[in-house]
Amino acid sequence: MKTITLNNGVEMPAVGYGVWQIAPEACERYVSEALAAGYRSIDTAQAYYNEEGVGNALRKSGIPREKLFVTTKVWISNAGDEKAARSIDESLRRLQTDYIDLLLVHQPFGDYYGTYRAMEKACKAGKVRAIGLSNFYDARFVDLAENMEVKPAIVQLETHVFCQQAKMRELVKPYGTRIMAWSPLARGMNGLFGNGTLQAIADRHGKDIAQICLKFLTDEGIAVIPQSTRKERMASNLAIGDFELTDEERGMIRSMDGGKPLAADFNDPALAKFLLDYDRQFNPGK
Ligand SMILES: NC(=O)c1ccc[n+]([C@@H]2O[C@H](COP(=O)([O-])OP(=O)(O)OC[C@H]3O[C@@H](n4cnc5c(N)ncnc54)[C@H](OP(=O)(O)O)[C@@H]3O)[C@@H](O)[C@H]2O)c1
Repeated sequence: MKTITLNNGVEMPAVGYGVWQIAPEACERYVSEALAAGYRSIDTAQAYYNEEGVGNALRKSGIPREKLFVTTKVWISNAGDEKAARSIDESLRRLQTDYIDLLLVHQPFGDYYGTYRAMEKACKAGKVRAIGLSNFYDARFVDLAENMEVKPAIVQLETHVFCQQAKMRELVKPYGTRIMAWSPLARGMNGLFGNGTLQAIADRHGKDIAQICLKFLTDEGIAVIPQSTRKERMASNLAIGDFELTDEERGMIRSMDGGKPLAADFNDPALAKFLLDYDRQFNPGK
């Protein structure tokens, strides 16, 4: 399976399985199916409330721990040195593991400097192998990357054919940070699965649109964490190693980039206000 080498030498599978919005009670089953389909990298978060289901599936799989790659994220309500440190121990307990492979600051709100410091300490203590960010853009990303000792290994961003993150890809280079695409299939938005250009490329290769999208992103050096609750799609989303896109096809897909996220613009103050209000109401850390 194709891997990406992070800026601290850790190897990460280029394709992982995401579990956002998978109910806690269903998570164990879907992650077990994903592991059976061949996934070895799982992306969860404290705020998904399903770390325990991920942990159950990993433990019961019998797959040696070193062959697995587990990503989780510290939520806003756990921000700050002490709360983040406690939440990391709690994530380890829920995930039923001695270490997290990749730990991210989930959203750029609250005391995320304190959170990142706690993550650096967890890294030094051997509880975490690599740390990074999620939804940090532009000046916020640069400020943190410049100021912290451990440079973010990953920044997880909404990335798909309609939002290819050209600017962020350049901006993260000096820090050796890699991009991990959330919603790599754009959750089907913008008519992705009915897109004529993508369908024509897919037909040429005997593949489907999802495979073309995932192949394109991983070829660009971007990690992807598609989600599906259907076994056949779990498998097909992983089966992208047996064909090559042509330069012309890559050019056609590059020209689809609208340069703007479709789901969430983290530079938008209205989104920040909405998410902070939401967090105060449903604060999962308290
Ligand atoms: N860091 C963050 O803030 C953040 C935000 C959002 C997401 N994420 C992570 O990114 C992961 C993936 O993102 P996402 O779940 O939003 O979106 P996604 O992976 O782009 O799309 C998932 C949707 O596409 C469908 N799908 C999957 N494979 C398909 C295929 N081969 N053909 C047709 N439809 C297909 C799925 O439906 P079926 O289940 O019916 O197949 C599901 O509705 C999440 O699970 C989460 O781990 C992170």
